[in-house]
Amino acid sequence: MEKNISGLIFDLDGVLVFTDKYHYLAWKQIADEMGIPFDETINDKLRGVSRMQSLEIILENYSGEHLTDKQKSDIAERKNAIYRSYLQTMTPDDVSEEVRNTLEMLKKKGYKLAVGSSSKNAGFILEQVALRDAFDAVSDGNMITRSKPDPEVFIKAAQLIGCDAEQSAVVEDAEAGIDAAKDGGMMAVAIGNATAYDRSDIRLDTISDLLLYF
Ligand code: BG6
Ligand code: MG
Repeated sequence: MEKNISGLIFDLDGVLVFTDKYHYLAWKQIADEMGIPFDETINDKLRGVSRMQSLEIILENYSGEHLTDKQKSDIAERKNAIYRSYLQTMTPDDVSEEVRNTLEMLKKKGYKLAVGSSSKNAGFILEQVALRDAFDAVSDGNMITRSKPDPEVFIKAAQLIGCDAEQSAVVEDAEAGIDAAKDGGMMAVAIGNATAYDRSDIRLDTISDLLLYF
């Protein structure tokens, strides 16, 4: 058991809900339209990073005419509209019983729980899947100026639940999120994609394995 931890901060996309597949589909549609090569490997680099930074990563493979900032923000806005049309289809069934039970058990054990997400859609997603009440606080892309790998979103989450960095553990599927946790002085718990990353402190096969440690 990890004795000094009193707050658990969860990434949202790819940890609690599988909206990462919708991010992929929306970016894929944009990339196809623009003739930009885009696959799962490039998509993995977008995990945890902001919408505009994601676009910049995708544009590394773009060979068309120069794009102005206005054109770039129009593209990002269009991607978001496509992404939100997928989010509209989400229901409480999109959160597994395993996720709900794990969060409930952790709360019963006395941990403070927060969401720490780069997404500006986090509030909408939590509402769609009826998960907001499972958390004491939500820190998201609307409340920060620097996205992961900067620790800002997690520092904000820890403050909201009244925990110091060293009392906080972050659960993440993204390398950028593991970096953010470690650079913020927090414990980094990896799941999915992030388990291959050597900065992770704990690696989970499945989310309920959190109960082995906390
Ligand atoms: C993160 C995703 O949670 O949110 C990233 O892992 C995404 O892929 C980022 O770019 C921003 O999301 P949104 O919803 O604000 O476009
Ligand atoms: Mg994620």
